[in-house]
Amino acid sequence: LQTLPPVRLAHKYFQIFPDERDPLWQNPCHDKRHKDIWSKEKTCDRLPKFLVIGPQKTGTTALHSFLALHPAITSSFPSPVTFEEVQFFSGPNYQRGIDWYMDFFPVPSNISTDFLFEKSANYFDTEVAPKRAAALLPRAKIISILINPADRAYSWYQHQRAHQDPVALNHTFHEVISAGPSSPAALQSLHRRCLQPGAYSSHLERWLHHYQPSQLLIVDGVQLRSSPAQLMDGIQKFLGVTPYYNYTQALTFDESKGFWCQKLEAGRTRCLGKSKGRKYPEMSLESRVFLSEYYREQNVELLRMLKRLGQPLPIWLRDELHNAS
Ligand code: A3P
Repeated sequence: LQTLPPVRLAHKYFQIFPDERDPLWQNPCHDKRHKDIWSKEKTCDRLPKFLVIGPQKTGTTALHSFLALHPAITSSFPSPVTFEEVQFFSGPNYQRGIDWYMDFFPVPSNISTDFLFEKSANYFDTEVAPKRAAALLPRAKIISILINPADRAYSWYQHQRAHQDPVALNHTFHEVISAGPSSPAALQSLHRRCLQPGAYSSHLERWLHHYQPSQLLIVDGVQLRSSPAQLMDGIQKFLGVTPYYNYTQALTFDESKGFWCQKLEAGRTRCLGKSKGRKYPEMSLESRVFLSEYYREQNVELLRMLKRLGQPLPIWLRDELHNAS
């Protein structure tokens, strides 16, 4: 039997098994062989019990902040780079390994009642995210928020304008959504970022390939905006979290922000920052009609999927398909 020094051995190994260059992290405590060599000082409990997966611009920050108010729910620590998002399963951070990921979470005081979670809104439409998430967190619950994909696309476009993205500043929304293969690469890229996440049923099918339907909750972002306390009650039930937290008392509608915010003492409120709930002109009718058509098939598929899963139909979806028929 021949061997090599560790680094050369590793090179040799990956030459023979190139597919394994891409790691797939699993929970060390789910396999005795892994647990036996896992450091005694480490715990497998510093992992989330649920994920808020997005997509972006559907109200994920509001949901994150409302969840964090709950006494038994604890969010991941903020990242200096991506703020409230860890973005582990979706990009290069995944290569940093699970110790890096676990450092974003406190050691829970009571593993059975403490609900650690993280929200990274780009998990939703990242191809590899469900497979990676399910490998490490097979029992996790998954929450996704959906708004009309047309509104999501428009909100993303406005977000890019607010960030001075030259492509968004130099092109109308309609030019962006109707860009084609002969358009400049930068315009095509913005086109994709606006439209791709809105293919809801395709993305959700991928999550359902790795998670049981009972692990997935799809909530209506319009309801999150208009009656968040009711929506938070449904989420508490889905998570099975105790004690029951009364969001009707915790939240209040802030007239000047035009959104629901945390209620503080003496009539004060804590709302999300200026970048959430921006004021911008309404989408043109031309773009709305274009996107209704563009997303029709995906929306019909989503309707079928939600019926199959026995999940409530968002009002925006009913309206959208009613208007389109
Ligand atoms: P707009 O800024 O386009 O209105 P995300 O946090 O996923 O990026 O989503 C941002 C969107 O959350 C905002 O989009 C806003 O409409 C919505 N939202 C829902 N509830 C909110 C709240 N309570 N405060 C601020 N924004 C909220």
